[in-house]
Amino acid sequence: VITSFTTERLPRWFAQPGARAWTCAPVPAGIQDFHAGLPGYAPTPLLERPAIAAELGVGRVFVKDEAARMDLAAFKVLGASWAVHQVLSRRPAGTELLLVTASDGNHGRAVARMARLFGQRARVFVPSGVHPVAVAAIEAEGAQVTEVAGTYDEAVRLAAEAAREPSAALVQDTSWPGYEQVPGWIVEGYSTLFAEIDGQLSDTGAGSPGLVVIPAGVGSLAQAAVTHYRSHAGQPALMTVEPDTAACVLASLTRHEPVTVPTGTTIMAGLNCGTPSLLAWPCLRDGLDAAVAVTDADSLAAARDLAGGGIAAGPCGAAALAGARAALTGEANAARRAALAIGPDATVVLLSTEGSAANPVPGEPPRLG
Ligand SMILES: Cc1ncc(COP(=O)(O)O)c(C=O)c1O
Repeated sequence: VITSFTTERLPRWFAQPGARAWTCAPVPAGIQDFHAGLPGYAPTPLLERPAIAAELGVGRVFVKDEAARMDLAAFKVLGASWAVHQVLSRRPAGTELLLVTASDGNHGRAVARMARLFGQRARVFVPSGVHPVAVAAIEAEGAQVTEVAGTYDEAVRLAAEAAREPSAALVQDTSWPGYEQVPGWIVEGYSTLFAEIDGQLSDTGAGSPGLVVIPAGVGSLAQAAVTHYRSHAGQPALMTVEPDTAACVLASLTRHEPVTVPTGTTIMAGLNCGTPSLLAWPCLRDGLDAAVAVTDADSLAAARDLAGGGIAAGPCGAAALAGARAALTGEANAARRAALAIGPDATVVLLSTEGSAANPVPGEPPRLG
């Protein structure tokens, strides 16, 4: 049962002792091989940034830079491609499908790209507040875009309604009662990002991370992180980062039940979600160590600092650095560091989930990736 929740007096930080000891089953084999066969696939870079490590007071910091993910400027295509592949492989032979989704940009563009690649049509419902560059990028993939005068949750509702027509299939990256299979495939698809990180960290001799920082909207990427790290050896601390105006994962952890929070506007468009995915929730409740909320100003400062270090992160991507700063530095950081078991030698991985081409940073010239 999802209840509504007001965000007044919501803390900016919440930690759950014991999450690291939780374990779960791994994703099925074959997903990385599927991605490797897609046109334009290559692992995205894992970039070491010693200056950030010094600032955060840890041993090493790596930024997983999703800006170049199959020229779509965000990680989302890993999930959309695997889910579209699964949906299409189950349709009656010869049927053409309309792939429908709601998105604040990145997922919609990825679904549109996959529809085009596999010779299908796509329709994308976009909530208000999405950057015109992101809308144009979805249209450029050949999808029909419907702009909704409402929130992300409202766009999801309209997409689900539109997908009821014959020969349509909903490819949504969040889950609710009765809609679990497709979002499950999307989360499975994200596993490739973590498999890439494992290989890249071992190439640098860094070994297992002590902390992985994950920007969260509905929490599906965080679910993929929990599934990956809680089904392998070397349990890192896992922490989500959300906008303080849309911190549904943080609010849900605080209440120990999934809650809907009211959302407003934020430059972190991909994280502007009011309700955690039903499928993600049990994983996050049991396997996520901590959640932190950051402001637009925090994300903006992080984006500028990452850009100064040669990484053109969008506001959602930069949220990872903003969240790491909020957790590991500042007033009373010792208690938060202890909750995450982060010492001065720890390796921290920041997931920069989008490049600035996906969702331009305010004040910077927009570039279409
Ligand atoms: C760039 C970016 N980062 C992070 C996320 C968060 O993913 P999730 O909604 O699975 O928590 C999204 C979601 O759309 C996104 O577009």
